[in-house]
Amino acid sequence: MTVRLAPTSAGGRQTSDVAIEPTPEVAGRGSIDVSGVGYRYPGAAAERQVIDDLSFSVRPGEFVCVVGPSGCGKTTLLKLLSGLVPAESGGIHVDGVPVQGPPSNLGFVFQDHARALLPWRNAVRNVEFGLEAAGVARKDRRELARQALRRVQLPDVENLYPAQMSGGMQQRLQIARALAATPSILLMDEPFAALDALTRFALEDALLEVWRELGLTVVFVTHDLDEAVYLADRVVVLRRGPARVVRELQVELDRPRDQGRTRAEPEFVALRYELFETIRAL
Ligand SMILES: Nc1ncnc2c1ncn2[C@@H]1O[C@H](COP(=O)(O)OP(=O)(O)OP(=O)(O)O)[C@@H](O)[C@H]1O
Ligand SMILES: [Mg+2]
Repeated sequence: MTVRLAPTSAGGRQTSDVAIEPTPEVAGRGSIDVSGVGYRYPGAAAERQVIDDLSFSVRPGEFVCVVGPSGCGKTTLLKLLSGLVPAESGGIHVDGVPVQGPPSNLGFVFQDHARALLPWRNAVRNVEFGLEAAGVARKDRRELARQALRRVQLPDVENLYPAQMSGGMQQRLQIARALAATPSILLMDEPFAALDALTRFALEDALLEVWRELGLTVVFVTHDLDEAVYLADRVVVLRRGPARVVRELQVELDRPRDQGRTRAEPEFVALRYELFETIRAL
């Protein structure tokens, strides 16, 4: 996916020359390869190894959920994938290129929307924030931001400030901000954990819709095993001390998924049980 320089139209009228949409020349982008990665936080007590010899890969367009005990290193893994911290050993490649800083085609959505959003900027200006840093022209910024807000079903909130929005709306806003930068990969760190069940279901479905339409690769960390099975093509289970992949479960439930029907399917129940037993045995 990229900023396309072809005209787009709405209601028959040409509106802009930029669009958030998958484009043929980047179809197939978004692969991640993690090979023998190790990490410890510098200066941390006893310099404990948080991640050791961790390997897995993600195919372009795949939706991978990562689960594991609290403190096992899931957030640290996302920081490594996003280039925010450098791996101490092993290698991380995005689209075959070693990660040496934040890759430009990668978006990050944090759990804590209250801290991730800028309270002094309204919704559309929050979405524009990353585009300003990337040097996108003002007119294109506004158009990309509006498209991103529509993608997450937040079309009428442009002038609202984060404090005037519900938790679910703020989290949609954070996803819109990531989408506006036209990433091919989204890294998400327990993005829906603080939301009530119904809001979470709605956001899960909104995310699946955006993922499908844009052909994104998603790495989604969650504590919620039901959420992992509902969303994922594959669930990667980490153990702690130090973090390593102990299990990968393929999820072959039909898509599009449905919150009621899918969760009642015997395969769903069996996978969730298997996942639960795997984590309990760690
Ligand atoms: N900035 C830091 N400095 C030192 N140690 C850290 C730092 N951040 C995390 N750690 C340690 O690294 C380990 C892994 O932390 P991380 O936040 O990656 O776990 P997690 O799996 O995301 O946990 P949770 O499920 O609770 O979010 C923990 O033992 C934590 O104490
Ligand atoms: Mg975490």
